[in-house]
Amino acid sequence: MITKRRSKPLPGTGKPTDLHIKFAMAAALASVAWNAAVAQEMSYGEAEYLNSCAVCHGSDAKGDGPLTDVLMKRPPDLTRLSERNGGRFPYQRVFAVIDGRYVVSGHGDRDMPVWGRQFLEEDAKVYGPSGGEIVTTERIHNLAGYIESLQRSLP
Ligand code: HEC
Repeated sequence: MITKRRSKPLPGTGKPTDLHIKFAMAAALASVAWNAAVAQEMSYGEAEYLNSCAVCHGSDAKGDGPLTDVLMKRPPDLTRLSERNGGRFPYQRVFAVIDGRYVVSGHGDRDMPVWGRQFLEEDAKVYGPSGGEIVTTERIHNLAGYIESLQRSLP
């Protein structure tokens, strides 16, 4: 299930018409990927998670992936984010942490890759700079939505 898939139009990405075309294109492409994922009975967010995140956070997202031993910090259990946030899933924060480009680090280096930059590098090659930004945003929304779907139900 994808929730909150749409973000506000990005600032500085050109004329509205131009943006609308690119957005429609990106949405169409994303829905193709989505349908392919559903055909395999796996959401796009889940596929992306297993591909990029499970090495550290674990395939069940509880923070025990195979890379855990070599990291300075233990990756957090991503199934308890709501629990640790007073019962509310911190969607915006999760989105921002995954993206990583706009996070001001309070305490030292980050162990987690800056996915916004990494995804954009790949996506811009295929869709151009502004189309790439839209696809990258969509990928991060899919991931955040997938993590939201993993939250344990509260007692
Ligand atoms: C190289 C290991 C590594 C990979 C790969 C990784 N993470 Fe992380 N992640 C961490 C660590 C370590 C932290 C703790 C904060 C820090 O040190 O950056 C973290 C923190 C987070 C948080 C913040 C949780 C909180 O408590 O607010 C989220 C959300 C998250 N990761 C999601 C993801 C997603 C989604 C992916 C895949 C796109 C991913 N991570 C891939 C290591 C990783």
